[in-house]
Amino acid sequence: MKARIASLPGDGIGPEVTAAARAVLDAVAELSGHEFIFEEHLIGGCSIDSYGVALTNDTFAACSAADAVLLGAVGGPQWDDPGSEVRPEQGLLELRKRLGLFANIRPARPHPNLLESSPLKREYLQGVDLVVIRELTGGIYYGEPRLRDSRDGHSRAVDTMVYWDYEVERIVELACNLAAKRRGKVTSVDKANVLESSRLWRQVASKVGHEHPEISIDHQLVDATAMRLVTHPAAFDVIVTANMFGDILTDEASVLTGSMGNLPSASLGTGRSGIFEPVHGSAPDIAGQGIANPVGAILCAAMLLRHSLDLESEAQSVETAVDRVLADGCRTIDLSGDDPLSTEDMTAAIISRMKSSDQIKLEI
Ligand code: IPM
Ligand code: MG
Repeated sequence: MKARIASLPGDGIGPEVTAAARAVLDAVAELSGHEFIFEEHLIGGCSIDSYGVALTNDTFAACSAADAVLLGAVGGPQWDDPGSEVRPEQGLLELRKRLGLFANIRPARPHPNLLESSPLKREYLQGVDLVVIRELTGGIYYGEPRLRDSRDGHSRAVDTMVYWDYEVERIVELACNLAAKRRGKVTSVDKANVLESSRLWRQVASKVGHEHPEISIDHQLVDATAMRLVTHPAAFDVIVTANMFGDILTDEASVLTGSMGNLPSASLGTGRSGIFEPVHGSAPDIAGQGIANPVGAILCAAMLLRHSLDLESEAQSVETAVDRVLADGCRTIDLSGDDPLSTEDMTAAIISRMKSSDQIKLEI
């Protein structure tokens, strides 16, 4: 097959980890005979520096024409002035919204050889295999009004949390369909004891749950979920939640896997195309040093192959290579203190595993 992939490396370590994901996709192309055509564009802080906006119409048009979007990370201290009109994150938020990618899939499954890398005790991590489905184009990230004004000598800032029933319905439906292929359990997370939007969320989620008798759905408050994610992480199968709750809970869930650098995500809508971006940020403190963990970005490449290009066995071959390399003891600096591999060496180890004829799936 021939596929067009828009590559948006972005800021900080984004270019380094995106190059790793691209090298893996090039290796997949070489091994399978597919053709992947990459088109690179700016997003975030680097786009602000060049064009004054975080997302140009050209970048948007390229992404909407592509079969999939591979994204690195956006942001950095040089664009962090809270008084600034333009911010790198606006580019990502606008791209997700305009492409209609309402579902963000964030799997978290600790690799058995990385249990020691997590600050949690080994016994808590045994059997952890969860996916967070984060609603991505609604909620407080996009609600209106959003404003700043002043009254009686005081400044005020307003953000608004809005959910429509259909937004909740489609994301919970997606969570139920995913759970049906897994352990059949959905945990819908809200703050229904306080927020009106969460009470609507809970009502709609219950209704969708009832339409799926094969699924057991329960409802938890977000504060309790934050606690249970570290006290009973193995109890979760599919978590479905609102935009901001999902943002927070997925950073927390990344701790289960030993490093935030390991986690991929896929942002999907009704079509096949999507944005594939690691959960980690731009990590400006280590940018340009060639030491970033490329695993999250490489697992994004696998998700891209699976979800946008329908290349399941190629996706699995990437995931298997990552599993094998971690089992072999290859580690970047975030996962081990002694003799860590560079981004390039870690990527080369994964590619060489993909190319080795004895690659077999590890049962983990
Ligand atoms: C994420 C990030 C983004 C978000 C930022 C960079 C806008 O934290 O993808 O989790 O909040 O969605
Ligand atoms: Mg986040």
